[in-house]
Amino acid sequence: MVKRNKNFAKLQAGYLFPEINRRKKEFMEKHPDADLISLGIGDTTEPLPQVVVEALKEVADEMGTVEGYSGYGDEQGLTELRKKVAEIFYPGLIEADELFISDGAKCDTGRLQMMFGNEMTIAVQDPSYPVYVDSAVIMGQTGSYVTEKKQFENIVYMPCTAENDFFPKLKKADIIYFCSPNNPTGAVATKEQLEHLVRFAKENDAIIVFDAAYAEFITDPNLPKTIYEIEGAKEVAIEVSSFSKPFGYTGVRLGWTVVPKELKYSDGTAVHNDWNRIMTTVFNGASNIIQKATLRSLNDEGLGEMKRLIAYYLQNAKIIKDALDKMGYQTYGGDNAPYIWVKTKSDNSWKAFNHILEETQIVTTPGSGFGPGGETYVRFSAFGHRKKIEEAVARLQKAVLEHI
Ligand code: MLT
Repeated sequence: MVKRNKNFAKLQAGYLFPEINRRKKEFMEKHPDADLISLGIGDTTEPLPQVVVEALKEVADEMGTVEGYSGYGDEQGLTELRKKVAEIFYPGLIEADELFISDGAKCDTGRLQMMFGNEMTIAVQDPSYPVYVDSAVIMGQTGSYVTEKKQFENIVYMPCTAENDFFPKLKKADIIYFCSPNNPTGAVATKEQLEHLVRFAKENDAIIVFDAAYAEFITDPNLPKTIYEIEGAKEVAIEVSSFSKPFGYTGVRLGWTVVPKELKYSDGTAVHNDWNRIMTTVFNGASNIIQKATLRSLNDEGLGEMKRLIAYYLQNAKIIKDALDKMGYQTYGGDNAPYIWVKTKSDNSWKAFNHILEETQIVTTPGSGFGPGGETYVRFSAFGHRKKIEEAVARLQKAVLEHI
């Protein structure tokens, strides 16, 4: 018999969102007539922009011809798409060949762990997107789970609380994961805060992995959308990002990672070289159909559609946040982010999750799923049809949520 990768035994439960689904199913078995509203996983609900749909049809037709067919492409992505994405999202900040197109930010995060290997120390914001910690555990970067602390050994947790405005006291580690706009708290780091982060990374020889998957939700022009707006960031930071949320590509899959050529390991090797090696070894490039269709859609019409979708979800966020505020809850985020982070009076966020589910048939995400710092919070996602959002708010206002 083959021995199991012992790191899997360290993981606490299933991955957060499948675990929520499991509980959802269990609830539905007990209450088959329940009309659930899902404000749990941040999954987009509005149709693809028409410009993308038309481009997809066109590309699919071309693929059915001898002249238009294409097989394997460059693992790094279509050259023209790399140029376009760099030009639109990083004007004057990066070179197109520093940007690698992929099947999404989550997948790239896992591949980054593979590139770094298991001898690195990592620091995460607490709470944080669970992929950083779970993939580090699977890679063997961590020790065991310490039940009393609800933390893994060898992971540096940087608490993000209302008291520190969700910007942590930075701590030393080889790799610092930082997400802004933040999943789950919805906090957005200011320019000064990111300058501090970049300075800290330089002084401590760390690499920042900056997760900008929600950057397009920033509508305040004073807030940075990319780490590369900060001087010197190219020497210390990798950025992952995605079309999932702004273009509704959660199921379509397309994202990217920027690895600047200035970023070096201690032996002088460019990290860019190793990332190229990872992508050419374990990845065969994103689907050519969606890459070509996206390239054709990144025009005024497509970017206008993107803005419209973002405005729609931000309005949802406002509706949820306003309602919870009026009900007396302490809420965070939701202004330049699609998540509302809600303080509860419960000391167990799975209990709070169950209580909301039982009383309102609304699925949220328990804060502890993002780390011990989330234990007294639940997260509401603003992704949903407007009617469902309004119905959810009406249910919340009617419900007696005495435990939260
Ligand atoms: C979330 O709900 O935190 C995210 O949407 C999940 C993901 O993007 O993988």
